[in-house]
Amino acid sequence: MDRFSLDGQIAMVTGAASGLGKAAAEVLAEAGATVVLADIDESGLAAVAETISAAGGRAEPLTLDVSDRPAIRQATEDVAARYGRLDIVIASAGITAGPSYRTEAGQIGAIADSAWDKVVGINLSGVFATVQGAAGPMKNQGSGRIVVIASVAGLKSDPMVGYAYAATKAALVNLVRQAAMELAPHGVLINAVAPGPFRTNIAGGRLQNPDVEAAFSGMVPLGRIAEPDEIKGLLLLLSSPASSFMTGTTIPIDGGMSAR
Ligand SMILES: NC(=O)c1ccc[n+]([C@@H]2O[C@H](COP(=O)([O-])OP(=O)(O)OC[C@H]3O[C@@H](n4cnc5c(N)ncnc54)[C@H](O)[C@@H]3O)[C@@H](O)[C@H]2O)c1
Repeated sequence: MDRFSLDGQIAMVTGAASGLGKAAAEVLAEAGATVVLADIDESGLAAVAETISAAGGRAEPLTLDVSDRPAIRQATEDVAARYGRLDIVIASAGITAGPSYRTEAGQIGAIADSAWDKVVGINLSGVFATVQGAAGPMKNQGSGRIVVIASVAGLKSDPMVGYAYAATKAALVNLVRQAAMELAPHGVLINAVAPGPFRTNIAGGRLQNPDVEAAFSGMVPLGRIAEPDEIKGLLLLLSSPASSFMTGTTIPIDGGMSAR
């Protein structure tokens, strides 16, 4: 099982205070990595750091806003300088804002520029800045893994999300392909995952509302939404030596939604 070991590796996870980012941080720590937990939610970060430490892992909280692009780039540089390397970066910080086109407020003419810009600033520009920040030290050391959390809503139209969310998640799929080409000769591998519905705090925790959960479950061939822990296996695969020949891909983890 050495191919799944991250012993001695240095990782950074954005959006680590909650949901899929928290699950990512937990599994990387469990596999042996030291994990820098980056998020805008300071108290959430402290709780996750505590959970990881209590389980015998190594984690360090770092409060930041990924839409502050110089800040996230500086943070990756600082981590690489402090630990002497940066092996794994998982970009999970993301938001959904704006309702589906099925509601009046979500239709094309009703989308406010500010709502669009906010989602693009975090989900696309924030992820690009995270990838920029990761790429520098990883190119220098000649190795590294980057994993971007996209969405099944970026692979096909999705009646449950707003325009900006769908557009930014689709953009991440090709951002990952493009970066994979530049980074491959440097030994840096970048992939994305495209989750279907997971029970997290996204959109104010609406996936924890039974009516919303039922609506999502009805779209999933496996007939249910997922628990955050269910993403851990795929994220560990994409962060570890086990996936040494994978780059530029986006892997759905969606209970079969994208196969429909
Ligand atoms: N939950 C799902 O069903 C689902 C499905 C597909 C994709 N995703 C994606 O997974 C990722 C994680 O979402 P989640 O479901 O875990 O939601 P979540 O709300 O539970 O966690 C998101 C985390 O990102 C942090 N965050 C938000 N904006 C930030 C910013 N500007 N800077 C730093 N941190 C910020 C939040 O504080 C929170 O801790 C997102 O990119 C989301 O789009 C989620």
